[in-house]
Amino acid sequence: MTNAQKWIVLILVIFSVLFLVAKMTEKEESIDDLDFYKDSEQVTETVKKEVDALSLMASNRCFMCHTKSLAGSGAGPDIRTVSENWEKEDLVKYLKNPKDFADDLRLAELRSKYRSPMTGVNNLTDEEITRIADYLLNLK
Ligand code: HEC
Repeated sequence: MTNAQKWIVLILVIFSVLFLVAKMTEKEESIDDLDFYKDSEQVTETVKKEVDALSLMASNRCFMCHTKSLAGSGAGPDIRTVSENWEKEDLVKYLKNPKDFADDLRLAELRSKYRSPMTGVNNLTDEEITRIADYLLNLK
């Protein structure tokens, strides 16, 4: 072997060793490690909850008075900023039975602007009402 050939063999050996070391220390990337995958799962979960809340609201005629955009109409106020005045627990109670809050001055004043008062939901479980409350409270 000439000197040049020896060098070439030596370089090839070094590269092979480096390649093998790199292969052995390489981490398997599992799909759970990928942030975008987790993010998209979370987004799906959030969207599912929102769709759920909206369909519950549609079937309970909330849109009839508050409109689909929740901006309100002549029959009910804007409910996009509910989080400014409500905590979850009370909001659930209110949605179940608005009359329980007859003493609330702000609500009384609000009520006086509309021909008929807010009607409570019936036929919904606490969990479903909570889903609506969560949705409204997360709007702002
Ligand atoms: C008949 C019309 C009508 C329907 C149907 C209705 N609301 Fe209302 N809503 C009102 C009126 C009027 C008020 C004003 C306060 C009151 O009457 O107690 C109000 C108040 C509210 C408030 C409180 C707003 C605030 O500023 O604190 C929330 C939240 C709300 N409604 C959510 C809903 C949801 C959710 C539904 C469906 C389950 C619904 N409403 C169905 C008329 C309605």
